[in-house]
Amino acid sequence: MSLLPDVDRILLGPGPSLTAPRVMRAMAAPTLSHLDPLMLALLDDVRARLMRVFRAPEGSFAFAVSGTGTAGMEATVANLVEPGKRVLVIVSGYFGDRLAQMCERYGAHVTRLDVAWGRACDPAALRTALAAGPADIVAMVHAETSTGALNPVRELAAVAREHDALVLVDAVTSLGGHPLEIGAWGIDACYSCTQKCLGAPSGLAPVVFGPRALQRRVKCRSFYFDLQLLEDYWVRRKYHHTMSSTLVYALDEALAIVEEEGLEARWARHQQNHLALVDALQPLGLSVLPPEGERLWTLNAVRVPDGVDEAAVRKHLLDTFNMEIGAGLGPLAGKVWRVGLMGASSSPRLVLLLVAALQAALAHRERRVVGETGSRPQVAE
Ligand SMILES: Cc1ncc(COP(=O)(O)O)c(C=O)c1O
Repeated sequence: MSLLPDVDRILLGPGPSLTAPRVMRAMAAPTLSHLDPLMLALLDDVRARLMRVFRAPEGSFAFAVSGTGTAGMEATVANLVEPGKRVLVIVSGYFGDRLAQMCERYGAHVTRLDVAWGRACDPAALRTALAAGPADIVAMVHAETSTGALNPVRELAAVAREHDALVLVDAVTSLGGHPLEIGAWGIDACYSCTQKCLGAPSGLAPVVFGPRALQRRVKCRSFYFDLQLLEDYWVRRKYHHTMSSTLVYALDEALAIVEEEGLEARWARHQQNHLALVDALQPLGLSVLPPEGERLWTLNAVRVPDGVDEAAVRKHLLDTFNMEIGAGLGPLAGKVWRVGLMGASSSPRLVLLLVAALQAALAHRERRVVGETGSRPQVAE
């Protein structure tokens, strides 16, 4: 008996998002070894495409680390942080906290700038924090997937640079979905993933080190994430690890699709579908957590109305409609659903399907409650 899925899940959670059909087909190409000339040509193509998709300045090194977004996080931290480095981490949710933990593991003296969950960091708060104590690195999450809030990275990076700190950015839920400009915004190091706005399966983490980060890199304590050794492989063709050709096909094809659509058009598509969702949720009495102007287009943290069993609604969507949405994390567990509209999952068709399915799930629950108690629950807040 095969355990392979024979259902097409509609992936509208915090990731993975749907894999574009072209990317699925690319993964059926024959396996290559990690040093095959055909593979090396693909690696060069991936590097060039990542430079453009990150909008990285000349002199940067863009490539992909084997592993998921967390591997990208670890690769940037492992090459920039050594014991005693002062790192100020903006913590506005679960992934900012993970970034702080990662820096601590590599020996940094970490100062946390805590921001209320569901809100963006005010650049003035960063200015105050840096005036109180200098930092070698300022680290932040662009799109905080746990809260649905977007940090103003351009402004935050400018403040960090006034203090000559390196700027390290997590773009796991923003690359390909929100404007992001490594060069123009003064970002020194950045990492992302393949399974969200880029539309490939998980398994590789796009990473970029800008010129200042390359100059200020430290002796890396990790073998797997050592930038020098990774450059030896990607640039000087020396064996480091057995890179998956299948995942490289997927990433290269996904980046080709991004470039064919055009970054600006892709950002606009993510914005339009997010706005359409927020509008369509309103009549159901549903709203998103962050205030307007601080909201992600890629991940919508939808407040669970009082009295609604959030897990039962998610189960209903999965069992009845084959549709996945995510649960809240940490202090938002039970309080929000996380609805991802990313990559191939960001489309008007899927917004309509989701809203109809949510409406049906809430009505189903309402019918059951009325049946059990004879009274109607309050679905709207
Ligand atoms: C903002 C952010 N950073 C890091 C990660 C970790 O990525 P992964 O689960 O691919 O390791 C995630 C995962 O959702 C994320 O949303």
